[in-house]
Amino acid sequence: MKIAVCGKGGSGKSTISGALARHLARQGHKVVALDCDPNPNLGISLGVLREEVESMSPILNALIDAGHTHKDPKIEAEVLLDRYGIDAPEGIRLVATGKIERPSNACLCCGSHNTTRQFFGELPADDRIVLADLEAGLNDLIWAKPGPDDVVLAVTEGSAKSVEIARRACRLAEELGVKRIIGISNRTVSDVDAKRIGEELGVEMFTVPEDRAIEDADHLGIAAIDADPAAPAVVAIGELAQLITR
Ligand SMILES: Nc1ncnc2c1ncn2[C@@H]1O[C@H](COP(=O)(O)OP(=O)(O)OP(=O)(O)O)[C@@H](O)[C@H]1O
Ligand SMILES: [Mg+2]
Repeated sequence: MKIAVCGKGGSGKSTISGALARHLARQGHKVVALDCDPNPNLGISLGVLREEVESMSPILNALIDAGHTHKDPKIEAEVLLDRYGIDAPEGIRLVATGKIERPSNACLCCGSHNTTRQFFGELPADDRIVLADLEAGLNDLIWAKPGPDDVVLAVTEGSAKSVEIARRACRLAEELGVKRIIGISNRTVSDVDAKRIGEELGVEMFTVPEDRAIEDADHLGIAAIDADPAAPAVVAIGELAQLITR
């Protein structure tokens, strides 16, 4: 199974991706976590130490540094995962597509998007779960190009702008033929809010509550699931893991 997590900047994509990957791994699934943000930080939400996250070689950067050009034969996604992935807790393999590190006239994010497409498209997922934490907005969703057998999570908090981007993500996913689209109402403070968001998105919905423990863990730079496994949002994301794999 492949899962693409999308939504507006700051809606909670990485928080949800990190805790979801951990819960899925705890349920016994083999999980590959793809950090598709050119400012990668999914590792923190997964429970990887900050120094290790910083020392990771995102695929695009590693290939460019090694002198690889687009004229060279394409390297298989599985080989790249082996070479540039790092081990995260619970047996999860984490890999980042690209990282903006220095000023350049070239557009790094185009290469990063392309790597996202290669990874999300080509990594076999028959006996494992490939979970992609996409770059904010809609562009990366088009690049990842999820299909009928994939799952799309459209994450939104309560603001009208965030809900609108999630709504557009749902429509794009429908156009791509995705059958399982789940709207995630994150940082939910009231049932009324969740209901309103559900009506706007028009897809299956799941609610993650506003939870101070998530913010506290983020301020310490650690994963919420490690800081406070019983926190309501962490528990809710565990239920989301059950729902997705049921
Ligand atoms: N359920 C929640 N309760 C309280 N705070 C939350 C919750 N979910 C996320 N947050 C907070 O919202 C902020 C943004 O979360 P996160 O980094 O996961 O968003 P993102 O969508 O990945 O952002 P970006 O687009 O920048 O990658 C963080 O400060 C995080 O602690
Ligand atoms: Mg993020």
